[in-house]
Amino acid sequence: RSAIVPVAGLGTRLLPATKSQPKEMLPVARKPVVQYVAEELVANGIEQILFVTGRGKTSIENHFDHDPELARLLAAANKHELLEHLSAVELNAKFFYTRQRLQRGLGDAVLCGEHFAGEEPFVVALGDSIIGLNASSQAVSRMAELFQERHASCVLAIEEVPPEETVHYGIIEPADAEGDVFRVANLVEKPAPGRAPSNLAIAGRYVFSPLIFDMIRRVQPDSRGEIQLTEAIQLMCEEGRRVLALKLPPGEKRYDIGNFGSYFATFVEFALVESEL
Ligand code: G1P
Repeated sequence: RSAIVPVAGLGTRLLPATKSQPKEMLPVARKPVVQYVAEELVANGIEQILFVTGRGKTSIENHFDHDPELARLLAAANKHELLEHLSAVELNAKFFYTRQRLQRGLGDAVLCGEHFAGEEPFVVALGDSIIGLNASSQAVSRMAELFQERHASCVLAIEEVPPEETVHYGIIEPADAEGDVFRVANLVEKPAPGRAPSNLAIAGRYVFSPLIFDMIRRVQPDSRGEIQLTEAIQLMCEEGRRVLALKLPPGEKRYDIGNFGSYFATFVEFALVESEL
């Protein structure tokens, strides 16, 4: 039912575009990135979303809020199609917001959602990644099913990346595989070239048991003072908990908005499906 969407990162790889606006609000064709993420989650049965925000991120809250003045103006001008687009933004889910006060890494951001998640399993969806063209992905639903059927403690979405790119991602060491489902033996965060145990990268979607919060608390900050979520999942592996990974199907690839190369490519791909433009 619940998803935590971390959106507190500074977006330094996208400066100057992100100097005074969150990277999650950058447009990809018609919509800001974060709207695709919320739409994907709602289409996968999520009922409540917690955004873990930070300073300079209030435009995300404004985006999902109702704007009565704009709605009145559009109605008076008979712009009903635009009004429909606006109400689509408000979506059929409950939205919650909290702030990560210090930049202490992804693990710490997820820990900000502990009270929100309560005793139930939950989804983590990174706010700078869209899954599938126009967010048309059912991967999160499949991950939640796997989590239940296989009594897992964690299910990760993964994708293959070229060997030279493993340094940008959390990389899994698979123990065994059954089709597109892998059992994870170990994980390494951003391994240097030649040190990666595979080319299977964590792709920005996770399903967790609330047990993850205890694991995050046990993780020591890295050299940059950040608490890595990947380290907390590694602790689950070390304890013999069941950590599974689902490879994203070819038609539901991940679009990473976190750097200019893949942001540009994503924008072009999403814009080109609008044939009339
Ligand atoms: C984070 C995670 C990493 C994951 C990546 C996916 O890294 O730490 O394990 O593979 O997201 O985008 P970041 O992009 O925040 O550096």
